[in-house]
Amino acid sequence: MPPGEANYDEAKVPPYSLPDPLTMASGEPVADAAAWTEVRRPETLQLFKTHVFGEMPGPLPGIRFVTTEEGEALSGRALRRQVRAYFTDDNNGPSMDILLYRPAEASGPVPIFLGLNFFGNHSIQRDPAIHLNTRWMRAEAQNGIVNHRATFNSRGCLERRWPVAKIIARGYGLATMYCGDLDPDYDDGYHNGVHPLFYQDGQNQPAPDEWGAIGAWAWGLSRAVDYLQTDSDCDHEKVAVLGHSRLGKTALWAGACDLRFALVISNDSGCGGAALSRRRYGETVARINHAFPHWFCDNFRRYNDAEDELPVDQHQLLALCAPRPLYVASAVEDRWADPRGEFLAALAADPVYRLLGTDGLPATQMPAVDQPVMGQIGYHIRSGGHDLAECDWEQYLDFADRHLGSS
Ligand code: GCU
Repeated sequence: MPPGEANYDEAKVPPYSLPDPLTMASGEPVADAAAWTEVRRPETLQLFKTHVFGEMPGPLPGIRFVTTEEGEALSGRALRRQVRAYFTDDNNGPSMDILLYRPAEASGPVPIFLGLNFFGNHSIQRDPAIHLNTRWMRAEAQNGIVNHRATFNSRGCLERRWPVAKIIARGYGLATMYCGDLDPDYDDGYHNGVHPLFYQDGQNQPAPDEWGAIGAWAWGLSRAVDYLQTDSDCDHEKVAVLGHSRLGKTALWAGACDLRFALVISNDSGCGGAALSRRRYGETVARINHAFPHWFCDNFRRYNDAEDELPVDQHQLLALCAPRPLYVASAVEDRWADPRGEFLAALAADPVYRLLGTDGLPATQMPAVDQPVMGQIGYHIRSGGHDLAECDWEQYLDFADRHLGSS
């Protein structure tokens, strides 16, 4: 294949064999749930930390959560709360804004969908009370971003990805944050964002086995759960983490690292997310590390054009969510993300789910387009392209009803 051209031909997918999620590093089979939980799971998580996403620090002791605004939304059907998480004692230092909507009529704590957004909290709804994010953003004129800053025109620009009225009507809350509050999405050598808060004396960038941007974004999702644990209107034991694309990779990594996420959803997460790296279909490890050198840990670059040497593949990232409910979604036209590779990863995670006593993924073949399958693992391939669509959300809501119950 000429360099620079992505493979979209199944016939050119190289033969590969996946690491067995249920064989321990010692070569012993994982015989039961205890061996998974006590040995194989920690060992698998460590491999992802060392070789793929990097080590991630724990919470900051001095974090402060301050409610900055509250009010009614959606003609009184929802209640909105905005909370700023200050990461240091400096109010001008790094911080993260959490936007939370919950059903006005709820009589107790509600389960929550939690996900990062690409263009600021104000981009998810045309609700003028949402603080306009002032941080660096990817320059996308159609989303109202000028000179890397949000303008008034970016209010509600990604409303189609966040059907708040529907989520609320189904009895769920929604919490979201801007990923750039944690780490702006460009390669700046990790000087901005939260990384420097953790540097040792003399350190000015993460070590080769330490976190990149995806790690920082996932860290922020865990900090949002820290907040939700303090908010009595939210059921912090029923938090579903979800993300689209690079933020879908992030949702999976957050779900793997933090067992407080009760349900994990990957929407079109592709390479470095739900798609098997060894298939080298669409985006590959070399391409992603070249285009986005700041997403993974530096060690991941060792596997550029050497996927078979990776000690793990992405089915094992999915298995780290087990036995918690996991939904993987693809879209037909999103070939860059390798829909088949996403399905095959979910299928290859199934033995772990079954070992842990669940029904895993109730399919052996890739289901037809727009025909979701749902067990403890859910999967669908939707018609259309790379996006987080309302019909994706409809499946996630059904899946959450099944596993979390809306109240
Ligand atoms: C690019 C990138 C993908 C990523 C996507 C996105 O296409 O190559 O890995 O998932 O952006 O985040 O939209």
